[in-house]
Amino acid sequence: MSSISPRRRKLEPLTPPPQDTPSFEKRNDAFLDQTLRPTSWDDYIGQETIKKNLHILISAAKERENPPEHILFYGPPGLGKTTLAHIIAHELGGTLRSTSGPAIERVGDLAAILTNLAPGDILFIDEIHRLSRTIEEVLYPAMESGVLNILIGKGPSARTLDLPLPPFTMIAATTRVADLSAPLRSRFSGGVYRLEFYSEENIAQIIRRSAEILGVDIEKSGVAEIAKRSRKTPRTANYLLKRARDYAQVKRVPLSDHVVSEALGMLEIDELGLTPLDRNLLLAIIDRFHGGPVGVSALAAALAEEQNTLSEVHEPFLLQLGLVERTQRGRVATRKAYAHMGREIPPNFEESFL
Ligand code: ADE
Repeated sequence: MSSISPRRRKLEPLTPPPQDTPSFEKRNDAFLDQTLRPTSWDDYIGQETIKKNLHILISAAKERENPPEHILFYGPPGLGKTTLAHIIAHELGGTLRSTSGPAIERVGDLAAILTNLAPGDILFIDEIHRLSRTIEEVLYPAMESGVLNILIGKGPSARTLDLPLPPFTMIAATTRVADLSAPLRSRFSGGVYRLEFYSEENIAQIIRRSAEILGVDIEKSGVAEIAKRSRKTPRTANYLLKRARDYAQVKRVPLSDHVVSEALGMLEIDELGLTPLDRNLLLAIIDRFHGGPVGVSALAAALAEEQNTLSEVHEPFLLQLGLVERTQRGRVATRKAYAHMGREIPPNFEESFL
C-alpha cells in the first residue's frame, strides 16, 4: 500500500527523537543526501532552461490560484528530477506526496493515493515507466478531468463509480521516457522536460556548496579534481566528495587534487569518472565484439549485467563523453574509447561501422 496514507502520516514516533542533535560526522549518508538537497531555486544550480520554464508555469498557476498542470521529468539518474519535484512543492506551498511506479501494484493502491490527496497537493510518481497499462488507464481521467473512475462489483451487476478528486498536480519522473505510452506522455500538459548532464563549472559550484554545508575544507584543486570525475552528475559529485573527505580525514591530510586522485583511485574511478563496469563495457565492445556494432542485450550477457543498468546508467554517460556511438545496428566504440583504453585502432576502423 502507498506510503502516503493519512493514517500513517498521523502516527507519532514511538520513541521521541534525541534531544542533542548529533554532529554531521555521526549522521549517515542518506541523511546527508537529504541535507545537501537544495530546497529553493536560488540553491538549485544548472538546468537553466528547465528552471526558466518552470518559473513561468508556477508563477502563472499561482496568479490564477490553480495548481499547475502535470509535469514529467526524464533523463539519466542523479541529475535532480526528485529535487525539482521538492522545489516545486516548496514554491507552491503544497505538500509533496511521493510514491513510485512499482509501489502502485493494484488499482486500489492508486485509488487510495488519489482519494487521500488534499487540494493543492503535489503527487510525485518516480519510475512512472513501471506502471502497468491497467493502472495507466485509471490515471488518464484522474489527470485530465480530476475524476477517479472505479469499477465496483463483477459481471452484470458491475457498475462504475466516478469520484471527483481535489485539484492536484502530478509530477512524474523516469529514466526511460521511450517506455511511456503516447497517451500517458500527452497528459503531461505542464511540460515534458529532459534533464541534461551538468557542465563541469556547475558541478564545481555544487561541490563547493556541499562542502560548505558539510563543513569540509577543500582546496580549489580538489574541487576541480572531483568535478572532473563526477560523471557530470550532482549525485555522483556529492558521493565522491564524501568519500574523498573520509580518505583525507583518515590520512590526516588536506583535500588537494592529489589526495582526491588517491581517494578516487582507490575506488577505481578514473580521470574521466569511469567505473570498472564502464571500462569493462568499452573493452567488451572493443575486444569481444571487434569494436561493434553490438546490441545492448549481447553486451549485458557478455558482462553478466542487467540490460537496464547498462542502457539507463552507463550508456548515457559513455555516449555523452563520445566514447560510444549508437548506430542502427548497435553500439560502437569510438576512436576516443580505443585511446582511453590503450587499444590500437584497427586498420578497417571506419568501414566496420557500416
Ligand atoms: N544537489 C543535487 N542537485 C543539485 C543542484 N542542481 N544544485 C545544487 N545542489 C544540488
